[in-house]
Amino acid sequence: MRILISDDALAIACGADRVAAGFAKAAPDAEIVRVSSWGMHWLEPLVEIEIDSTRTGYGPVAPSDIAAILAGEADAIRIGDVAAHPFIAGQTRLTFARAGRTRPLSLDDYEATGGWAGLRAAQAMTPQHIVETVTASGLRGRGGAGFPAGIKWKTVLDAPGNRKYIVCNADEGDSGTFADRMLIEGDPYVLIEGMAIAGLATGADTGFVYIRSEYPHAIAKLEAAVARSRAIVAPFRIEVREGAGAYVCGEETSLLNSLEGKRGEVRAKPPLPAHQGLFGCPTVINNVLTLAAIPFVLAEGPQAYADYGMGRSRGTMPVQLAGNIRHGGLYETAFGITLGELVETIGGGTASGRPVRAVQVGGPLGAYFPPALFDTPFDYEAFAARDGLIGHGGVTVFDDGVDMAAQARFAMAFCAIESCGKCTPCRLGSTRGIETIDRIVAARSVRAEPVGTKSAAGQPLPFLNTGAEEKDRASTGSARAGLEAGAELDDAVALVEDLCETMKFGSLCALGGFTPYPVLSALHHFPEDFGLKEAAE
Ligand SMILES: Cc1cc2nc3c(=O)[nH]c(=O)nc-3n(C[C@H](O)[C@H](O)[C@H](O)COP(=O)(O)O)c2cc1C
Ligand code: SF4
Repeated sequence: MRILISDDALAIACGADRVAAGFAKAAPDAEIVRVSSWGMHWLEPLVEIEIDSTRTGYGPVAPSDIAAILAGEADAIRIGDVAAHPFIAGQTRLTFARAGRTRPLSLDDYEATGGWAGLRAAQAMTPQHIVETVTASGLRGRGGAGFPAGIKWKTVLDAPGNRKYIVCNADEGDSGTFADRMLIEGDPYVLIEGMAIAGLATGADTGFVYIRSEYPHAIAKLEAAVARSRAIVAPFRIEVREGAGAYVCGEETSLLNSLEGKRGEVRAKPPLPAHQGLFGCPTVINNVLTLAAIPFVLAEGPQAYADYGMGRSRGTMPVQLAGNIRHGGLYETAFGITLGELVETIGGGTASGRPVRAVQVGGPLGAYFPPALFDTPFDYEAFAARDGLIGHGGVTVFDDGVDMAAQARFAMAFCAIESCGKCTPCRLGSTRGIETIDRIVAARSVRAEPVGTKSAAGQPLPFLNTGAEEKDRASTGSARAGLEAGAELDDAVALVEDLCETMKFGSLCALGGFTPYPVLSALHHFPEDFGLKEAAE
């Protein structure tokens, strides 16, 4: 008998190590195998019992369930064949093909599941041919901007210089995202293979992985995998560097400064990193998921990848379902699936059981979409057409207890805290934004009682300024106060919109430039939370 349990950080946080120890004690003859996670987070710790090559899954498993599982009596938590579970069977796993199936650091498992086939194919090609193959696949950067990977690689290939670099962006700062972490913890060799192929394509012999320090399990796995695969990818070599702990260090030029040992401050572009990147040398910077998609493209051919998707969004996207959602986890699917399918059908709605009110897609700089926009297909252009972005594929769900004015304030506060300070619209605008949203919140309670200012338990929601001024004004209740509050509200709303315009078009990077997305989408789709009766124009 083999007992398979994930050693992913989320599974461990849910108690997987304790469960593994419990099985080792209760079934000393069984082989305990630590595998990668399937990505069904609500079922972790997920345990598979393998007898005569047949696996039966159970989850979520507590140490107290072990005896019943071994006796074949744990019906309440029996999942059966995990691969046949609708959450898994409905996916198209190209990048996460090994998730749940292999031991993360096993070179044997990697090789046996098609590992290194892409690298071998690339080794038989010219750099130009590799770049053409990546371009033909239609693969776009998965870090947020969706820039075509092949064009970036070609720019670095064509750039003059004896020394070039491959930098993998594993800073993964977006709230509600975890695909980079899961990939590195569960299948580190596929990232290493992708980076080695990028090296062959551009003439770079060195790669750096810039990984957030908050991912200790991933860092340990990656360092072990780099050491074990060194001979396979040689002469390409990889170094792992821990991030500096700022959201803005995920921005590519700030990341380069941080890698060079400087402050993580954004650089003006041009020059592009592809021309003058790390230490002034031509540099490819790609997200983990972009690089991890490369081995499939090289092994199976560009058309096999491009066959999936819609419009200019080709291939698959590992979507991360998070927040107040019943079935949170990693769902890799071809572009084109609607937001509603992801949230309602696959995610099962909210974990609280209350109606979904808003979904933020694309991390803290992403727009909030109401259910009325759930027909939006997961596609870069379709989201942009509705003033949204898909970013790194994070989908964070909120129920009807959410106060969208508080969320808008949070977006400005996040920008103020994380701003690198280089440009005025972001550095000062975000703080003025907080103050102006506070004015709205103070005025709204006089004009009209908005929905959602209290949590289900009746407590004021976080990030909301419920100070004395608001209470004083609310208590007067006079018509005059109402009129004054109305004028104040209109004035403050107009100011927020104006400020957002300045931040959007005047900021040097997308931290300041995209903060208006959550703010304005909250204002436009949920005007009642700002004390407005109808949508602001
Ligand atoms: C404030 C800010 C934070 C970012 N954080 C990340 C990040 O954590 N990971 C990432 O891959 N890209 C991040 N990006 C995008 C990078 O600047 C860059 O576009 C990306 O690493 C390029 O790789 P790709 O083409 O493979 O997406 C961020 C951008 C901004 C403006
Ligand atoms: S928008 Fe400007 S101040 Fe804000 S993080 Fe980017 S460069 Fe720095």
